[in-house]
Amino acid sequence: MKNPEEFWQNKHKVQSPLWLTGSYLNALCRVHEFEVPKNQNVLEVGVGIGRATREFAKDNDVYAVDISRTALDNLGNIAKKYLTADMVDIPDDTIDFAICHLVFQHCENEAIGFILDQVIRVLKPGGQFFLQSGDSKQPMGVNIGRTKRRELIWHTPDWIKARIALAGGDIVSERLSQRTPDIYWQLLKITKAAKNI
Ligand SMILES: C[S@@+](CC[C@H](N)C(=O)[O-])C[C@H]1O[C@@H](n2cnc3c(N)ncnc32)[C@H](O)[C@@H]1O
Repeated sequence: MKNPEEFWQNKHKVQSPLWLTGSYLNALCRVHEFEVPKNQNVLEVGVGIGRATREFAKDNDVYAVDISRTALDNLGNIAKKYLTADMVDIPDDTIDFAICHLVFQHCENEAIGFILDQVIRVLKPGGQFFLQSGDSKQPMGVNIGRTKRRELIWHTPDWIKARIALAGGDIVSERLSQRTPDIYWQLLKITKAAKNI
């Protein structure tokens, strides 16, 4: 992708509101086995059309981050703070719950490194970071919806894990989605490594 910012700006101008139907966050929780946070500082990186963000915002202070200004503008006033990809405004050790879902497969290595460095930096000791990351071993021909395969960039789990360690994160658990094990989605639960606390 030559210019990811421009790509996502254009895409967010034409996103379908139909994607907003149903409880996306509850579905996410069921699939990935985490509890919806309450009264916490939440950071969501790559909010998209806000499927989860809107629900997080009902009971939490949410930092909404996306590379696309349009995506953030479309969310209206629900979040505590809106930040384009730059997260340096968020103080260290302040986030209880962070999530980055369906984003890494759109990112080059450098962007992933930046996201990991920032999320681990702002995570509180004991905070949780849920990262969903596509696996490069995903079998060819799998139906991945409307996104064209050539727009996606697959990173190996080993590379992702090494980068998490470099950012100062510890992987608490990892597993494949039960719903779509054949697609090989990885879900990683990450905390701040003890050496950074
Ligand atoms: C497929 S959407 C996923 C949205 C949302 N997480 C969800 O699960 O519905 C990917 C989102 O990541 C954003 N994005 C892509 N690269 C990014 C980056 N480097 N930093 C932050 N957001 C990024 C895009 O603008 C887009 O909104």
